Amino acid sequence: MRKFLIAGNWKMNGGAEFTSDLLSAIKTRKAVISEDVDVLVCPTFVSLSMAIDQLHESDILVGAQNMHEAEKGAYTGEVSASMLVEAGCSYVLLGHSERRAYFHEDDALVREKLQTALSHDLAPIVCVGELLVQRKENRHFEVVKSQTLAAFSGLNEEQAVQVVVAYEPVWAIGTGETASPEQAQEMHAFIRTILSEQFGEAARAIRILYGGSMKPTNAHDLLSQPDVDGGLIGGASLDAESFVGIVETAEALSISAGKVDSQLSPEEE
Ligand code: 13P
Repeated sequence: MRKFLIAGNWKMNGGAEFTSDLLSAIKTRKAVISEDVDVLVCPTFVSLSMAIDQLHESDILVGAQNMHEAEKGAYTGEVSASMLVEAGCSYVLLGHSERRAYFHEDDALVREKLQTALSHDLAPIVCVGELLVQRKENRHFEVVKSQTLAAFSGLNEEQAVQVVVAYEPVWAIGTGETASPEQAQEMHAFIRTILSEQFGEAARAIRILYGGSMKPTNAHDLLSQPDVDGGLIGGASLDAESFVGIVETAEALSISAGKVDSQLSPEEE
């Protein structure tokens, strides 16, 4: 039912030469991508057009790491949804914890951006996740619930299914520390329950990615969880062998019927 999405968030790494070399290395290692897996790379704004040109005969999709919520105007240094679509992007990351922490993006802004993205048929990947202190205080469910509800508020079912959620516990980002497969599944199932309370059956179609130190050595255990529908990968996406290793793990785990979430037995699908 759900197709894996393996997405590389390159963050502020790599100019033209880096982009060209990394994409060539990915394509050399992985000329054909299974239909059961979507693969996405999110380079910096200045490398988007180049990446789109270089990938035009490939199945690899290109997305942006951020966008402005307004249609256009006097917003020096910003990039709009229509510009991203015109460049050839199909996805946009929104509300990454680094943007929330360093650029003061709050839930209301993330929601506004999400609605703008959807109105341009740009698929949003909205990031949610708790800080270490919040997990230690046992507030992680409460935090993720409020981020998720805020992002999806005001959407109808048709819009909601176009959104991808990325659960990225902040304590696992760039730290080498990963949520255990059980911790990831617990939170992903919780997010899906929240979404099913809002959108009913449609919630089964919403992909929930895990992000936070995913790498080839832990990808199998994370992606095997019933509600983990892919990965949003930082560090390991900057290395062709690691990124392709994760893509191949997802391919191997894919079954033609797709992912079945924890709330359903296979017979009910
Ligand atoms: P790392 O994979 O480097 O931990 O980064 C995760 C992330 O922030 C992806 O958006």
